[in-house]
Amino acid sequence: MTAVDAEPGMVARAAPAAPEADVRLAALPHLPFAADEFDAVVGNFVLNHVGRPREALAELRRVTRPGGRMAVTIWAVPAAAGQALLGRAVQAAGVVRPAHLPTLAPEDDFLRTEQGFAALLGEAGLTDVVCDSMTWDHRTTPEEWWSGPAAGVATIGQVVTSQTPVVIAEIKSHYESLCAEFAGPDGELILPHAALMAWAGRDCAPSTRRRLMWRASRAGRYTKPVADGDRLAARYGSARCYTSATRSR
Ligand SMILES: C[S@@+](CC[C@H](N)C(=O)[O-])C[C@H]1O[C@@H](n2cnc3c(N)ncnc32)[C@H](O)[C@@H]1O
Repeated sequence: MTAVDAEPGMVARAAPAAPEADVRLAALPHLPFAADEFDAVVGNFVLNHVGRPREALAELRRVTRPGGRMAVTIWAVPAAAGQALLGRAVQAAGVVRPAHLPTLAPEDDFLRTEQGFAALLGEAGLTDVVCDSMTWDHRTTPEEWWSGPAAGVATIGQVVTSQTPVVIAEIKSHYESLCAEFAGPDGELILPHAALMAWAGRDCAPSTRRRLMWRASRAGRYTKPVADGDRLAARYGSARCYTSATRSR
């Protein structure tokens, strides 16, 4: 097993936690591996961090062997209520995103919905794409949830820490008021989250494809080709792009 992250601190933490893995420092879209090297590739909440998701995905596909599998996750947009909490506090304080923070160029962006994410993988030439939504409640405390942005973690943290102490205090005050909407027992904060998980194959054999689609239907997902999938199927020959509706719909 090989693990990669672009951040030295993540590599330093992962290496002792997974001594059997070859943990490397590397950044998408350039991985230090030969083409077709891996049976399976997993990218957990990474494609939502990179500047060029299409190039990153092409690189993940390159290192997956023909017949191999890929699974990737991102956050859904619009964000679930719990994930929007900090952004609402920032907005309520009248803070706008500082211009120096990088944003994705419109041509690099994509719809962060089941269909949009599935289409992105299909456009990258992956086959038998299935995308599902996952929803859950993240349980934390108001103090713990605030500690991330207060320390500058993630984009929201950079927005918060680039403000003056007075403005930061104002954001925090709005945050504390909004926390009431998510209050659970014993001072807990219960934050609904939503993510998208897509999995796909690289040039899967028809038998593998049938097995995967059968497994998806057994798991209770209603699977149907999407309009974009048909368009992509025409473009990529054997490639079909699928999305699926969860049982709750
Ligand atoms: C939300 S964390 C997920 C970490 C890990 N994959 C997990 O599931 O716990 C996002 C990670 O993506 C890494 N990252 C950001 N840009 C990257 C890039 N271009 N190439 C590789 N990793 C990147 C960050 O350093 C960060 O550790």
